[in-house]
Amino acid sequence: MSTETITHDVIIVGAGLAGTWAAMIASQEGVKDIGVLSKIHPLRSHSGAAQGGIAAAINNVRPVAGTGPRGPLEQIPAGDSAVDSIETHVFDTIKGSDWLGDQDAIEILVSDAINIVYEYEHMGCVFSRTPDGRIAQRRFGGHSVPRACYAADWTGHMLLQTIHEQALRHGVHFYSEWYVLDLIIEDNICRGVVAMDVLTGEIHTLHAKAVMFGTGGYGRAFKISTNAHANTGDGVAMAYNAGVPLMDMEFVQFHPTGLYRLGILMTEACRGEGGYLTNNKGERFMEHYAPDKMELAPRDLVSRSEQIEINEGRGIGPDGQGIYLDMTHLGREKIEERLPQVLEIAHNFMGVDIIKVPVPIQPTAHYSMGGIPTDAHGQVIADAEGNPVVGFYAAGECACVSVHGANRLGTNSLLEASVFGRRAGYSIAEFIKGGAELHPLPSDPGKQSSERIKHLMDDSVGDNRESVAEISKAMKAMMTNNCGIFRDADGLQAALSNVKQLQNRFQNARVMDKSKRFNTDIQGALETENLLAFSEVIIASALARTESRGAHSRIDYPERDDENWIKHTIAHKNGGELPVLSYKDVNINWEKYPPQERKY
Ligand code: FUM
Repeated sequence: MSTETITHDVIIVGAGLAGTWAAMIASQEGVKDIGVLSKIHPLRSHSGAAQGGIAAAINNVRPVAGTGPRGPLEQIPAGDSAVDSIETHVFDTIKGSDWLGDQDAIEILVSDAINIVYEYEHMGCVFSRTPDGRIAQRRFGGHSVPRACYAADWTGHMLLQTIHEQALRHGVHFYSEWYVLDLIIEDNICRGVVAMDVLTGEIHTLHAKAVMFGTGGYGRAFKISTNAHANTGDGVAMAYNAGVPLMDMEFVQFHPTGLYRLGILMTEACRGEGGYLTNNKGERFMEHYAPDKMELAPRDLVSRSEQIEINEGRGIGPDGQGIYLDMTHLGREKIEERLPQVLEIAHNFMGVDIIKVPVPIQPTAHYSMGGIPTDAHGQVIADAEGNPVVGFYAAGECACVSVHGANRLGTNSLLEASVFGRRAGYSIAEFIKGGAELHPLPSDPGKQSSERIKHLMDDSVGDNRESVAEISKAMKAMMTNNCGIFRDADGLQAALSNVKQLQNRFQNARVMDKSKRFNTDIQGALETENLLAFSEVIIASALARTESRGAHSRIDYPERDDENWIKHTIAHKNGGELPVLSYKDVNINWEKYPPQERKY
């Protein structure tokens, strides 16, 4: 089936912070023919779900002297010395990453942080304020000083509204509810994408000189997740299927406070504002695991501590899989002012009034540290040697630059999406204005996608028909049980054969809805196929890494192994076989930030 071709200089897939920053900057730099495709309405992009803050060492607040590590904060009087610095933010991020983050990229992230926050402010972002009108800041896990700039607990939402408005002002064209099916790369040159207009069901080829992915993460591979239903790792899977490697996929972050059984985010700001965690004995168990930082230790450590409490029978709830998050001592005024969204979510989804009673929570899949490897300009790289995939860029959660290494600190993701989205925008503009070519498309580029859809609608499979929903459910349970917070070789081996079986079963999966317009059944099936493709890479990479580092915790290899494992995993697709793994050195400044024991 031939498909209609649409041509732009630049196609950006994903309308969250990374994609929208890139589009806005490229346009501002004079590239006027830009199309941004989003499978949902752009303002529903998952960047908007990050609640608690964006990190920057802007030095507006400090702890009140003599009140201890969890005491109140005050604005820093003009002329008083700073509590934060670029170096401190860099070090906290490196330590948070368990020395797997690339230190040159981390220095870029942190150095750009202050500017980017003030850019948002100047574009009109409605940050919360200190009494004298400066941007307010709060504590967050793994950060040694209050560094999170916030807009109550709607920070991502406010940043996204701000940048989207600017992109519209610069004339960026948004294709809302267009689902991208395929990435076209030939001879290591990216030439465009194939996409379905969800409203009509028509397949289109989008031909471009440059393509950028800001397609977000893949937390929907797990049963309990903070991630929106849209976060099915489509970009990561498409890149992998097109021959681009994936990097550090074994590192999946579990956030300590997802709503019990549902996984919906209860921001880390709940703890930043003074909330704490208790088990079924009413104990603040974090004193056993992180006596100094307590609930404000980094997420990998807090989630593991909760899971140990649960596994040892000290969890709460009918199945013992929960923990209490207690904010009752914060008072109505503070909760309504600083945490209005979590107040509403706990009420709407659990019937719990957090002003009066603790809310049940549990660890929940939250963030993908791994992804499509890029350099610090958003340029996608094709191999461990750093060779570029010409015309292909990525930024934000789908990319791995790598600033988060083995564990991301909260509030560094809104920062990363903004900083590296903006940088990608500048390098795309330079690429286009430097004379980038519109390379020819292969013949009938939409054929494979059309055939995938035809296959999923074809009923000739009869009684052998498999249900997409059942496959998806089985996969998520398997990923949670065998490749979740704690892992070991037996569980990972079992997961590998299980994912292969599920991929085979998927061959017979068919959809019920055969219509063209707004066929969410077909989209769900294509998304499930993507989940199956990259989950295999997570498992294979986790099985190969015989150490524990950051969010990757092997009970059969409980120690960090700096001798053998300060390296990034690079996974290449290998036909129907398991991915081929190779490794790449981590960028470490051995004089300035050598590896240390990681204690909180
Ligand atoms: O807990 C939160 O507000 C999430 C923020 C983040 O992941 O950076």
